[in-house]
Amino acid sequence: MANKERAVAADYGLGPNEYPRGWFVIAEAKELDAGPMAVTYFGQDFALYRGESGRVVLLDAYCAHMQTHLTASKSAHIVATDAQIEGDSIRCPYHAWRYDADGHVDDIPYHDGPCPKSASLTSYPVREVMGCIMMWFNPEDPSGEPHFEPPYLNMWDHSNAVHWELDHLGEVPIHGIEITDNMADVRHLGPTHGAPCEYFEVEMRDNMVIQRQGGYLELYQAQLDTVTWYTGPGLLLSKQKFGEVTMFEFIANTPVENGVSKCWHGALSLAANNPPTAEDIEGAKGLQAGVLLAFAADFDVWTNKKPATKIMQMKTDGPFRTVRQWIGQFYKNAEDGKVVQQEVNGIHPVLGFPQPTAELKESGFEDDCFKTTDDK
Ligand code: FES
Ligand SMILES: [Fe+2]
Repeated sequence: MANKERAVAADYGLGPNEYPRGWFVIAEAKELDAGPMAVTYFGQDFALYRGESGRVVLLDAYCAHMQTHLTASKSAHIVATDAQIEGDSIRCPYHAWRYDADGHVDDIPYHDGPCPKSASLTSYPVREVMGCIMMWFNPEDPSGEPHFEPPYLNMWDHSNAVHWELDHLGEVPIHGIEITDNMADVRHLGPTHGAPCEYFEVEMRDNMVIQRQGGYLELYQAQLDTVTWYTGPGLLLSKQKFGEVTMFEFIANTPVENGVSKCWHGALSLAANNPPTAEDIEGAKGLQAGVLLAFAADFDVWTNKKPATKIMQMKTDGPFRTVRQWIGQFYKNAEDGKVVQQEVNGIHPVLGFPQPTAELKESGFEDDCFKTTDDK
Protein backbone atom coordinates (compact mmCIF):
# COMPACT_ATOMS: atom_id res chain seq x y z
CA MET A 1 0.00 0.00 0.00
CA ALA A 2 1.58 3.20 -1.17
CA ASN A 3 0.34 5.59 1.48
CA LYS A 4 1.15 3.72 4.61
CA GLU A 5 3.79 5.07 6.89
CA ARG A 6 5.16 4.01 10.21
CA ALA A 7 4.84 6.11 13.37
CA VAL A 8 7.18 5.73 16.33
CA ALA A 9 6.68 6.53 20.02
CA ALA A 10 7.81 10.14 19.68
CA ASP A 11 5.25 10.77 16.90
CA TYR A 12 2.52 10.00 19.45
CA GLY A 13 4.11 12.34 21.98
CA LEU A 14 5.35 9.41 24.03
CA GLY A 15 8.68 9.66 25.74
CA PRO A 16 11.34 10.36 26.69
CA ASN A 17 11.96 6.61 26.28
CA GLU A 18 11.56 4.97 22.88
CA TYR A 19 10.11 1.78 24.37
CA PRO A 20 7.78 1.20 27.30
CA ARG A 21 8.56 -0.28 30.69
CA GLY A 22 6.64 -3.40 31.67
CA TRP A 23 6.14 -7.14 31.31
CA PHE A 24 6.01 -8.48 27.77
CA VAL A 25 5.57 -11.88 26.17
CA ILE A 26 8.69 -12.85 24.23
CA ALA A 27 7.92 -16.52 23.49
CA GLU A 28 5.51 -19.31 24.22
CA ALA A 29 7.13 -21.53 26.88
CA LYS A 30 6.94 -24.71 24.81
CA GLU A 31 9.02 -23.12 22.03
CA LEU A 32 12.04 -23.49 24.33
CA ASP A 33 11.69 -27.30 24.20
CA ALA A 34 13.37 -27.09 20.78
CA GLY A 35 16.46 -25.44 22.31
CA PRO A 36 17.82 -21.90 22.75
CA MET A 37 16.17 -19.14 20.73
CA ALA A 38 17.35 -15.92 19.12
CA VAL A 39 14.71 -13.24 19.66
CA THR A 40 14.46 -9.54 18.81
CA TYR A 41 12.33 -7.07 20.73
CA PHE A 42 12.66 -3.37 21.57
CA GLY A 43 15.07 -3.08 18.63
CA GLN A 44 17.52 -5.38 20.46
CA ASP A 45 18.71 -8.93 19.95
CA PHE A 46 18.49 -11.36 22.84
CA ALA A 47 19.56 -14.93 23.61
CA LEU A 48 16.80 -16.93 25.30
CA TYR A 49 17.25 -20.42 26.71
CA ARG A 50 16.15 -22.82 29.40
CA GLY A 51 18.86 -24.02 31.81
CA GLU A 52 19.08 -27.59 33.06
CA SER A 53 17.31 -26.63 36.30
CA GLY A 54 14.35 -25.45 34.25
CA ARG A 55 15.18 -21.78 34.82
CA VAL A 56 14.60 -19.54 31.82
CA VAL A 57 17.41 -17.09 31.06
CA LEU A 58 17.43 -14.02 28.82
CA LEU A 59 20.77 -12.41 27.99
CA ASP A 60 21.99 -9.75 25.60
CA ALA A 61 22.70 -11.69 22.43
CA TYR A 62 26.27 -10.77 21.56
CA CYS A 63 29.31 -12.36 23.16
CA ALA A 64 31.81 -9.90 24.63
CA HIS A 65 34.74 -11.75 23.05
CA MET A 66 34.01 -11.30 19.34
CA GLN A 67 30.34 -10.32 19.18
CA THR A 68 28.97 -13.73 18.20
CA HIS A 69 25.24 -14.23 18.69
CA LEU A 70 24.95 -16.78 21.48
CA THR A 71 21.84 -18.54 20.20
CA ALA A 72 21.53 -17.83 16.48
CA SER A 73 23.97 -20.44 15.10
CA LYS A 74 22.45 -23.88 14.89
CA SER A 75 25.27 -25.66 13.03
CA ALA A 76 28.22 -24.93 15.35
CA HIS A 77 29.54 -28.20 16.78
CA ILE A 78 28.63 -27.50 20.43
CA VAL A 79 25.12 -26.50 19.39
CA ALA A 80 24.59 -29.44 17.03
CA THR A 81 25.86 -31.88 19.69
CA ASP A 82 23.62 -30.38 22.35
CA ALA A 83 26.58 -29.30 24.49
CA GLN A 84 25.88 -25.57 24.68
CA ILE A 85 23.93 -25.54 27.96
CA GLU A 86 25.74 -26.52 31.16
CA GLY A 87 23.64 -26.20 34.28
CA ASP A 88 21.96 -22.82 33.85
CA SER A 89 24.95 -21.44 31.89
CA ILE A 90 25.43 -21.21 28.13
CA ARG A 91 28.57 -21.46 26.01
CA CYS A 92 29.18 -19.21 23.03
CA PRO A 93 29.20 -21.26 19.80
CA TYR A 94 32.43 -19.62 18.58
CA HIS A 95 35.12 -20.17 21.28
CA ALA A 96 32.94 -21.58 24.07
CA TRP A 97 33.21 -18.80 26.63
CA ARG A 98 30.60 -19.69 29.22
CA TYR A 99 28.03 -17.22 30.58
CA ASP A 100 26.13 -17.93 33.78
CA ALA A 101 22.45 -17.08 34.26
CA ASP A 102 23.40 -13.63 35.57
CA GLY A 103 25.37 -12.92 32.41
CA HIS A 104 28.87 -13.21 33.91
CA VAL A 105 31.60 -15.13 32.08
CA ASP A 106 32.55 -17.93 34.46
CA ASP A 107 34.72 -20.10 32.22
CA ILE A 108 37.02 -19.56 29.24
CA PRO A 109 38.19 -23.03 28.14
CA TYR A 110 41.71 -21.93 27.12
CA HIS A 111 42.39 -19.38 29.86
CA ASP A 112 43.53 -19.91 33.46
CA GLY A 113 42.67 -17.47 36.18
CA PRO A 114 39.77 -15.10 36.65
CA CYS A 115 37.53 -14.22 33.73
CA PRO A 116 37.25 -10.55 32.77
CA LYS A 117 34.43 -8.86 34.68
CA SER A 118 33.88 -6.49 31.79
CA ALA A 119 32.80 -9.46 29.67
CA SER A 120 29.42 -9.54 31.46
CA LEU A 121 26.20 -9.35 29.48
CA THR A 122 22.93 -7.97 30.84
CA SER A 123 20.63 -10.67 32.20
CA TYR A 124 16.98 -9.57 32.09
CA PRO A 125 14.26 -10.52 34.58
CA VAL A 126 12.07 -13.26 33.07
CA ARG A 127 9.10 -15.24 34.33
CA GLU A 128 7.26 -18.24 33.02
CA VAL A 129 3.60 -17.41 33.45
CA MET A 130 0.56 -19.23 32.04
CA GLY A 131 2.50 -20.94 29.27
CA CYS A 132 4.32 -17.75 28.27
CA ILE A 133 7.86 -16.51 28.70
CA MET A 134 7.62 -12.90 29.82
CA MET A 135 10.42 -10.40 30.24
CA TRP A 136 10.55 -7.28 32.37
CA PHE A 137 11.77 -4.45 30.16
CA ASN A 138 13.02 -1.27 31.76
CA PRO A 139 15.48 0.74 29.69
CA GLU A 140 16.59 2.70 32.77
CA ASP A 141 17.58 -0.35 34.82
CA PRO A 142 17.60 -3.37 32.48
CA SER A 143 18.56 -6.04 35.02
CA GLY A 144 16.88 -4.35 38.00
CA GLU A 145 13.93 -5.56 40.05
CA PRO A 146 10.55 -5.31 38.29
CA HIS A 147 8.25 -2.58 39.61
CA PHE A 148 5.20 -4.84 39.54
CA GLU A 149 4.42 -8.48 38.85
CA PRO A 150 2.90 -10.05 35.72
CA PRO A 151 -0.84 -10.79 35.64
CA TYR A 152 -2.16 -14.17 36.70
CA LEU A 153 -5.43 -16.06 36.45
CA ASN A 154 -6.19 -18.39 39.34
CA MET A 155 -8.31 -20.37 36.91
CA TRP A 156 -5.07 -21.53 35.27
CA ASP A 157 -4.50 -23.83 38.29
CA HIS A 158 -7.95 -25.44 38.26
CA SER A 159 -7.68 -29.13 37.43
CA ASN A 160 -10.42 -28.83 34.80
CA ALA A 161 -8.92 -25.74 33.15
CA VAL A 162 -8.18 -26.16 29.45
CA HIS A 163 -5.01 -24.15 28.92
CA TRP A 164 -4.54 -22.06 25.83
CA GLU A 165 -2.14 -22.91 23.08
CA LEU A 166 -1.27 -19.46 21.86
CA ASP A 167 -2.18 -18.21 18.42
CA HIS A 168 1.01 -16.66 17.07
CA LEU A 169 -0.30 -13.72 15.12
CA GLY A 170 3.08 -12.39 14.06
CA GLU A 171 4.03 -8.78 13.49
CA VAL A 172 1.67 -5.95 12.74
CA PRO A 173 3.15 -2.72 11.41
CA ILE A 174 1.56 -0.50 14.03
CA HIS A 175 2.67 1.07 17.29
CA GLY A 176 1.32 -0.61 20.46
CA ILE A 177 -0.55 2.55 21.46
CA GLU A 178 -3.05 1.89 18.65
CA ILE A 179 -3.66 -1.59 20.07
CA THR A 180 -4.36 -0.26 23.58
CA ASP A 181 -6.64 2.39 22.01
CA ASN A 182 -9.20 -0.46 22.02
CA MET A 183 -9.55 0.04 25.78
CA ALA A 184 -11.14 3.41 25.14
CA ASP A 185 -12.84 2.63 21.89
CA VAL A 186 -16.50 2.21 22.73
CA ARG A 187 -17.59 3.20 19.22
CA HIS A 188 -15.86 0.39 17.31
CA LEU A 189 -17.58 -2.43 19.18
CA GLY A 190 -20.63 -2.42 16.90
CA PRO A 191 -19.05 -1.76 13.48
CA THR A 192 -15.94 -3.92 13.99
CA HIS A 193 -17.17 -6.65 16.37
CA GLY A 194 -20.93 -6.78 15.88
CA ALA A 195 -21.65 -6.19 19.57
CA PRO A 196 -22.79 -2.57 19.95
CA CYS A 197 -22.04 -1.34 23.43
CA GLU A 198 -24.90 -0.65 25.88
CA TYR A 199 -22.91 0.34 28.98
CA PHE A 200 -19.29 1.37 29.35
CA GLU A 201 -16.63 2.76 31.61
CA VAL A 202 -12.87 2.81 31.85
CA GLU A 203 -10.96 2.79 35.11
CA MET A 204 -7.28 3.58 35.61
CA ARG A 205 -5.65 1.90 38.55
CA ASP A 206 -1.91 2.68 38.56
CA ASN A 207 -0.31 0.23 36.13
CA MET A 208 -3.70 -1.21 35.12
CA VAL A 209 -6.36 0.13 32.84
CA ILE A 210 -9.74 -1.59 33.17
CA GLN A 211 -12.65 -1.52 30.74
CA ARG A 212 -16.16 -2.65 31.67
CA GLN A 213 -18.71 -2.96 28.91
CA GLY A 214 -21.54 -5.04 27.58
CA GLY A 215 -24.16 -5.34 24.89
CA TYR A 216 -25.97 -7.78 22.66
CA LEU A 217 -23.67 -10.02 20.62
CA GLU A 218 -25.32 -10.82 17.31
CA LEU A 219 -23.01 -13.74 16.50
CA TYR A 220 -24.05 -15.73 19.60
CA GLN A 221 -27.50 -14.16 20.00
CA ALA A 222 -26.71 -13.46 23.64
CA GLN A 223 -25.92 -10.67 26.09
CA LEU A 224 -22.17 -10.14 26.34
CA ASP A 225 -20.53 -8.73 29.48
CA THR A 226 -16.80 -8.14 29.57
CA VAL A 227 -14.24 -6.81 31.99
CA THR A 228 -10.92 -6.28 30.26
CA TRP A 229 -7.69 -5.08 31.75
CA TYR A 230 -4.10 -4.38 30.83
CA THR A 231 -1.32 -4.96 33.32
CA GLY A 232 1.27 -2.58 31.93
CA PRO A 233 1.24 -1.75 28.23
CA GLY A 234 1.63 -5.24 26.75
CA LEU A 235 -0.65 -7.77 28.48
CA LEU A 236 -4.42 -7.87 28.15
CA LEU A 237 -6.77 -10.22 29.95
CA SER A 238 -10.50 -10.15 29.45
CA LYS A 239 -13.22 -11.99 31.32
CA GLN A 240 -16.18 -12.55 29.04
CA LYS A 241 -19.61 -13.93 29.76
CA PHE A 242 -22.18 -14.72 27.07
CA GLY A 243 -25.08 -17.07 27.61
CA GLU A 244 -23.84 -19.99 29.71
CA VAL A 245 -20.21 -19.42 28.75
CA THR A 246 -17.59 -17.69 30.91
CA MET A 247 -14.03 -17.51 29.68
CA PHE A 248 -10.85 -15.46 29.72
CA GLU A 249 -9.19 -14.06 26.64
CA PHE A 250 -5.50 -13.18 26.55
CA ILE A 251 -3.82 -10.82 24.11
CA ALA A 252 -0.16 -9.88 24.29
CA ASN A 253 1.64 -7.27 22.25
CA THR A 254 5.36 -6.62 22.37
CA PRO A 255 7.33 -4.00 20.43
CA VAL A 256 9.72 -5.65 17.98
CA GLU A 257 11.03 -2.29 16.91
CA ASN A 258 9.64 1.20 17.33
CA GLY A 259 6.26 1.18 15.59
CA VAL A 260 6.03 -2.58 14.97
CA SER A 261 4.23 -4.94 17.36
CA LYS A 262 4.19 -8.72 17.71
CA CYS A 263 0.96 -10.28 18.95
CA TRP A 264 -0.22 -13.50 20.58
CA HIS A 265 -3.72 -14.61 21.52
CA GLY A 266 -5.29 -17.29 23.70
CA ALA A 267 -8.43 -18.26 25.60
CA LEU A 268 -8.84 -20.09 28.90
CA SER A 269 -11.98 -21.89 29.99
CA LEU A 270 -13.08 -24.58 32.41
CA ALA A 271 -14.16 -27.97 31.08
CA ALA A 272 -17.42 -29.59 32.19
CA ASN A 273 -15.46 -32.72 33.10
CA ASN A 274 -12.54 -33.12 35.46
CA PRO A 275 -10.09 -33.98 33.99
CA PRO A 276 -11.15 -32.47 30.65
CA THR A 277 -12.14 -34.98 27.98
CA ALA A 278 -10.93 -34.84 24.37
CA GLU A 279 -14.30 -33.33 23.55
CA ASP A 280 -13.87 -30.61 26.21
CA ILE A 281 -10.49 -29.74 24.72
CA GLU A 282 -11.99 -29.50 21.24
CA GLY A 283 -14.74 -27.29 22.66
CA ALA A 284 -12.20 -24.99 24.32
CA LYS A 285 -10.24 -24.75 21.06
CA GLY A 286 -13.46 -23.78 19.32
CA LEU A 287 -14.04 -21.03 21.89
CA GLN A 288 -10.53 -19.69 21.36
CA ALA A 289 -11.06 -19.73 17.60
CA GLY A 290 -14.34 -17.84 18.09
CA VAL A 291 -12.81 -15.03 20.13
CA LEU A 292 -9.85 -14.96 17.76
CA LEU A 293 -12.28 -14.12 14.97
CA ALA A 294 -13.34 -11.04 16.91
CA PHE A 295 -9.75 -10.04 17.54
CA ALA A 296 -8.83 -10.69 13.91
CA ALA A 297 -11.23 -7.92 12.94
CA ASP A 298 -9.14 -5.45 14.98
CA PHE A 299 -5.93 -6.93 13.61
CA ASP A 300 -7.16 -6.47 10.08
CA VAL A 301 -7.89 -2.80 10.76
CA TRP A 302 -4.46 -2.25 12.33
CA THR A 303 -2.67 -4.00 9.48
CA ASN A 304 -4.19 -1.71 6.90
CA LYS A 305 -4.58 1.67 8.62
CA LYS A 306 -2.28 4.65 8.71
CA PRO A 307 -1.04 5.73 12.13
CA ALA A 308 -3.41 7.97 14.11
CA THR A 309 -0.83 10.07 15.89
CA LYS A 310 -3.68 12.47 16.58
CA ILE A 311 -7.31 11.43 16.98
CA MET A 312 -10.17 13.66 15.89
CA GLN A 313 -11.98 12.89 19.10
CA MET A 314 -15.74 13.52 19.39
CA LYS A 315 -17.23 14.23 22.81
CA THR A 316 -19.14 10.97 22.47
CA ASP A 317 -16.07 8.96 21.46
CA GLY A 318 -14.36 6.87 24.11
CA PRO A 319 -11.65 8.44 26.33
CA PHE A 320 -8.75 7.92 23.91
CA ARG A 321 -6.73 10.81 25.32
CA THR A 322 -6.92 9.49 28.86
CA VAL A 323 -5.93 5.97 27.82
CA ARG A 324 -3.05 7.39 25.79
CA GLN A 325 -2.04 9.49 28.78
CA TRP A 326 -2.12 6.33 30.94
CA ILE A 327 0.14 4.47 28.51
CA GLY A 328 2.51 7.45 28.50
CA GLN A 329 3.55 6.60 32.07
CA PHE A 330 5.49 3.59 30.79
CA TYR A 331 7.64 5.76 28.51
CA LYS A 332 8.84 7.82 31.46
CA ASN A 333 10.94 6.93 34.47
CA ALA A 334 8.98 5.38 37.32
CA GLU A 335 8.80 8.59 39.33
CA ASP A 336 7.35 10.65 36.46
CA GLY A 337 5.12 7.69 35.66
CA LYS A 338 3.62 7.90 39.16
CA VAL A 339 2.66 11.53 38.51
CA VAL A 340 0.75 10.38 35.41
CA GLN A 341 -0.99 7.70 37.49
CA GLN A 342 -2.20 10.32 39.93
CA GLU A 343 -3.55 12.41 37.06
CA VAL A 344 -5.53 9.61 35.43
CA ASN A 345 -6.43 7.19 38.25
CA GLY A 346 -10.18 6.76 38.74
CA ILE A 347 -13.26 5.98 36.70
CA HIS A 348 -13.91 7.56 33.32
CA PRO A 349 -17.47 7.27 31.98
CA VAL A 350 -18.37 8.10 28.37
CA LEU A 351 -21.01 10.60 27.36
CA GLY A 352 -24.08 8.78 26.06
CA PHE A 353 -23.49 5.50 27.90
CA PRO A 354 -24.66 4.34 31.31
CA GLN A 355 -21.99 2.86 33.56
CA PRO A 356 -22.20 -0.81 34.54
CA THR A 357 -24.84 -1.45 37.17
CA ALA A 358 -23.84 -1.88 40.82
CA GLU A 359 -25.56 -5.25 40.60
CA LEU A 360 -23.12 -6.45 37.94
CA LYS A 361 -20.13 -5.06 39.78
CA GLU A 362 -21.20 -6.73 43.01
CA SER A 363 -22.15 -10.04 41.39
CA GLY A 364 -18.69 -11.52 41.92
CA PHE A 365 -17.97 -11.20 38.19
CA GLU A 366 -14.69 -9.42 38.94
CA ASP A 367 -13.54 -11.54 41.89
CA ASP A 368 -10.96 -13.43 39.88
CA CYS A 369 -9.78 -10.42 37.86
CA PHE A 370 -6.81 -8.06 38.31
CA LYS A 371 -4.60 -10.65 40.06
CA THR A 372 -0.85 -10.87 39.63
CA THR A 373 1.63 -13.65 40.32
CA ASP A 374 1.98 -12.01 43.75
CA ASP A 375 -1.56 -13.21 44.61
CA LYS A 376 -0.80 -16.82 43.72
S1 FES B 1 33.00 -14.85 20.18
FE1 FES B 1 32.09 -15.79 21.86
S2 FES B 1 33.63 -16.97 22.71
FE2 FES B 1 34.59 -15.96 21.08
FE1 LIG C 1 -11.57 -4.40 19.26
